[in-house]
Amino acid sequence: MPHRLAASVAASLAAAGLVTAMAATPASAGPDRHDDTTLGRLAADTHRYFGSATDNPEFSDAAYLGILGSEFNSTTAGNALKWYATEPQQGVFDFTQGDQVLDFARRHHMSFRAHTLVWHNQLPDWLNNGTFTADQLRAILKKHITTVARHYKGKVYSWDVVNEAFNEDGTYRDTIFYRTLGPGYIADALRWAREADPHAKLYLNDYNIEAIGPKSDAYYALVKSLRAQHVPIDGVGFQGHLALQYGYPDTLQQNLRRFADLGLDVAITELDIRMYLPADATKLATQADWYARVTKACLAVRRCVGITVWDYTDKYSWIPAVFQGEGAALPYDENLQPKPAYTAIRDALRSAGRH
Ligand code: XIL
Repeated sequence: MPHRLAASVAASLAAAGLVTAMAATPASAGPDRHDDTTLGRLAADTHRYFGSATDNPEFSDAAYLGILGSEFNSTTAGNALKWYATEPQQGVFDFTQGDQVLDFARRHHMSFRAHTLVWHNQLPDWLNNGTFTADQLRAILKKHITTVARHYKGKVYSWDVVNEAFNEDGTYRDTIFYRTLGPGYIADALRWAREADPHAKLYLNDYNIEAIGPKSDAYYALVKSLRAQHVPIDGVGFQGHLALQYGYPDTLQQNLRRFADLGLDVAITELDIRMYLPADATKLATQADWYARVTKACLAVRRCVGITVWDYTDKYSWIPAVFQGEGAALPYDENLQPKPAYTAIRDALRSAGRH
């Protein structure tokens, strides 16, 4: 590991209270040994961020945190700000886990994407199992958004206010919120979030909207109409959970651009590129090429503010638990060593920074 990086990793660990002495050992003699530039720094040179999601159980892994804090200049809490975690019982709020991630971000000068206020998954049992009238649910939603967004007021770069609101065909997803409140819950949620934290950028976020198609068209129509009604909306997040077997979304750049042309920010918010296991050199090379293409697509669109990978190492990827037989989706392997994808992202960022 080059000296400056080793020193900064050690400093990160020290700042995180994880080591008391500068004891970081030069561990990696990989392809990057003569290159101590980080993805975060290269992205910053283009006025963007390159971030990684993280999760609270990972905070006991010092080597992992060393890289998280030194390589990336933005982070997203993978689970800590979801409804089940922040309001586990009705009216009882818990910010312990979110604060832990935010604290790490602040100590390492990373910006913080907050995820997420309104989503149909990972809701607490009291909400999933309850029966509520529209008035009751509207009050519950308002209180949740207001309390959580106020707690983080002034401290987060952006909020994913509503996550995954549409079906693949562009119709509204049938969630407790849509069913009970109708489509207006989205505008309400955005307005309440703006009231609670006027400086956070407010996003809608979804998967399978990277390419132009019925689902991204639905977002395009929705944000246009929200804008026309002066509903506060600042950005659209394209999750970017890609899979080699489905092909690269060729219209990504064009799609990002059409949203940007509406005057919105756009971001790649949960990037990972999975494959059927076992990984081999050919698949990893294709994966590297896709990571570079996504990076270049973002760099080509001025309003594309940054890219976040959905954690940076295969050690902590959510993929194997959810997609059977798939994995190896991230730019670092399970031993925290950079893969070809890492080098491809770095080279794509670097070539843009030079222009
Ligand atoms: C995932 C987390 O990474 C997992 O730890 C959790 O078990 C399930 O959720 N889209 C999203 C994210 O918006 O919140 C999801 O995160 C991945 C898909």
